[in-house]
Amino acid sequence: STKLNILEIDGVPLLLLSKEMWDEICNFPARPDDLILATYPKSGTTWMQEILDMIQNDGDVKKCKRGGPLERYPFLELKFPHKEKKDLEIALETSSPRLIKTHLPSHLVPPSIWKENCKIIYVARNAKDCLVSYYHFHRMTSLLYDPQNLEEFYEEFMSGKVVYGSWFDHVKGWWAAKDTHQILYLFYEDIKKDPKREIEKILKFLEKDVSEEVLNKIIYHTSFDVMKQNPMANYTTLPTSIMDHSISPFMRKGMPGDWKNYFTVAQNEEFDKDYQKKMAGSTLNFRTEI
Ligand code: A3P
Repeated sequence: STKLNILEIDGVPLLLLSKEMWDEICNFPARPDDLILATYPKSGTTWMQEILDMIQNDGDVKKCKRGGPLERYPFLELKFPHKEKKDLEIALETSSPRLIKTHLPSHLVPPSIWKENCKIIYVARNAKDCLVSYYHFHRMTSLLYDPQNLEEFYEEFMSGKVVYGSWFDHVKGWWAAKDTHQILYLFYEDIKKDPKREIEKILKFLEKDVSEEVLNKIIYHTSFDVMKQNPMANYTTLPTSIMDHSISPFMRKGMPGDWKNYFTVAQNEEFDKDYQKKMAGSTLNFRTEI
């Protein structure tokens, strides 16, 4: 079958063609120089991908327009139904060092990634904005079900029934993993506030050096407005049957605090209570605005 199904792996709903496909993912052979970008969906994956691709290519914009986001940064666990081969298979034949994107929670990552001690960059985004962004993404993509309204999606998100499971488990799992692995844990809101400082952290982590001029180029090329206009970054290269940007553009707002336009006062109070419970004992701190 070439249709994606939601299959539960270890209690986490994933978009997969088949169970066999999952076994294949588990057996993924990582290389020590693979660079892994891990995120919960809608946390700034595409943004970070663009930053990392610009770093890898020393700020050469032309090279960073060699393909759409998925071709340049293949998805570890997803095969799009409209494609014959996985983007991953195609990209892995050509790129080096390999840049790989995953939304898997830390406990489901293929073992070879840990064994080879690959460098991993994790980007986390505050749950309220993540929820709103994921809601709009559900509306515009045929890969996911179409929620009736935000209330309905709110319930799904908070109970971890959405694809990739609970946001809470995801951010906490990766936060714990960073103590024993090479993981740079970054926050969407920090990158928005001070992209230069955050890109410098990445450069240090990757043991890379770029000139001030290149650094400024990276910041400019990866700004929301420029990426929104860039067809090689904004996902408009995918068929509209998969993503319909007229319903809601992939590059939607790109701002911390947009949840305020969607949450009612009551919802927000309920959220904060639930959040305290679910994050109890965690040292993770999120800002929900800047
Ligand atoms: P919004 O829906 O809140 O606008 P992902 O790539 O993980 O799917 O995340 C998508 C979210 O990141 C969207 O959030 C998108 O607009 C935002 N985004 C993409 N590029 C960005 C950029 N350069 N700056 C800020 N936000 C960006």
